[in-house]
Amino acid sequence: MAADSIFLGASRKPDDSYNQAESLLLKFGNRHGLITGATGTGKTVTLQVLAEGFSAAGVPVFCSDIKGDLSGIAAKGEEKDFLVKRAADVKLDPYTMASAPVIFWDIFGEQGHPIRATISEMGPLLLSRLMNLTEAQEGVLNIAFKIADEEGLLLLDMKDLQSLLVNIAERAEEISARYGNVTKPSVGAIQRSLLVLEQQGGTKFFGEPALKITDIMRTGTDGRGQVSILAADKLMMNPRLYSTFLLWLLSELFEELPEIGDPEKPRLVFFFDEAHLLFNEAPKALLTRVEQVVRLIRSKGVGVFFISQNPLDVPETVLAQLGNRVQHALRAYTPREQNAVKTAADTFRANPDFNTFEAITNLGTGEALVSTLAEKGVPSMVQRTLIRPPSGRIGPLNIDERQKLINASPVAGIYDEMVDRESAYELLQKKAVQTKTEEEAQTQQAEADSTGGWKLPDFLGGETKTGPRGGQIRGRQTVAEAAMKSVVRSVGSSLGRALVRGILGSLSKR
Ligand SMILES: Nc1ncnc2c1ncn2[C@@H]1O[C@H](COP(=O)(O)OP(=O)(O)OP(=O)(O)O)[C@@H](O)[C@H]1O
Ligand SMILES: [Mg+2]
Repeated sequence: MAADSIFLGASRKPDDSYNQAESLLLKFGNRHGLITGATGTGKTVTLQVLAEGFSAAGVPVFCSDIKGDLSGIAAKGEEKDFLVKRAADVKLDPYTMASAPVIFWDIFGEQGHPIRATISEMGPLLLSRLMNLTEAQEGVLNIAFKIADEEGLLLLDMKDLQSLLVNIAERAEEISARYGNVTKPSVGAIQRSLLVLEQQGGTKFFGEPALKITDIMRTGTDGRGQVSILAADKLMMNPRLYSTFLLWLLSELFEELPEIGDPEKPRLVFFFDEAHLLFNEAPKALLTRVEQVVRLIRSKGVGVFFISQNPLDVPETVLAQLGNRVQHALRAYTPREQNAVKTAADTFRANPDFNTFEAITNLGTGEALVSTLAEKGVPSMVQRTLIRPPSGRIGPLNIDERQKLINASPVAGIYDEMVDRESAYELLQKKAVQTKTEEEAQTQQAEADSTGGWKLPDFLGGETKTGPRGGQIRGRQTVAEAAMKSVVRSVGSSLGRALVRGILGSLSKR
């Protein structure tokens, strides 16, 4: 096995005898890929084989684990008969068992380290998608973000956005005059969607410490790439949160990583399971941008592999960019299924030895049609391939095994506790207090005036020689000063750099 590639398995001749080794060239790992096939045909095991291969080659990997069965990659496999036989069939010699270095992540913080993003990082476009906002509501959300930028209000968590919206509703008239129509009902609608999001886990997901992408791009001291596994069983119950989250992660990678052209091997490989969820019902504007991100992220050294049942699940413009393909079996009973198989077959460079359409419907478990990018980046002729058995366990870890790995993980202690630093919510609360103090001062002054200049005794003590009015003014300045300072502090720490909304509307930090 050459060190510049990942061994996938062995292709077979028409008479079913051994043909040749099939592999994926690391230098084309950033040219993306696709793993498709019906339920139970071997997609997850193929993903595992690829993830193990990248990790062993020093490439960190990020993948979501929909059913929990990918977690077994963190444990050494057992030499079961069917695996040993498969290894012999594909001439994998020696067949060694090994565990991959894994970091577990979980948006809900239960089956892995909590993974968070700030509201600013998510940006108005993805948030709108997350909350299923109408175009008009999205417009209002855009204005809200603009106002937060201008007024130095940090948007970190859900209550920051909630309080900003309350503030905007109060100032609807003034804001409409400046930015265009912002009505109370439209703000109210966003607030209600926000409540729903909160109940679906948003409170846990939005906040700090936010994920640093360098933490999903780690390599261990032994040179192996860390495999980040996102627990997605619970997350999948909210498909929109699932797909928007992964899309956000992709856009973060895109925004933060420098261009490196075509590297020897990818800097990170990202597996997007249940990829149809990303494209289902996605508005055209979003699709265009997904297509852009996928196209451009390649030069940042990031490979994206989509996993889905059928290639038809992926829009053609994206499909065209997926250079490495593994097609497991598909059924073709109904005309609709036959059509899907035909489309899948047509995406391959034909092999004169067999009929692609028929092959797809006849493949066994853990067997696939494989075409990877060969020298010069040309897709190889499609081959009927037996996929190699993985080195890790097939099937899930148990709770104890998982917990041990979480406790010993290289990011242990970094993300586990949520931090709530001063941001929009706290600042707006202070402003509200300040306004109230001012109003009280005015009332008191009015009262003092009406009582003919009588002064109230100074219960506060200290130098209120200038009378209650002066004292109140001093008090107000203190509050205002404090508010100013915290704005400056926040601006210094997070907003000072030029605010550029990135390709997906998330916050670019350059
Ligand atoms: N390359 C392989 N080598 C050996 N056994 C395999 C291989 N691929 C698949 N299998 C066997 O087939 C079973 C099902 O494979 P897998 O879980 O990958 O299917 P899947 O396509 O992910 O299914 P689902 O859509 O239900 O998630 C595995 O548990 C394993 O027993
Ligand atoms: Mg699976």
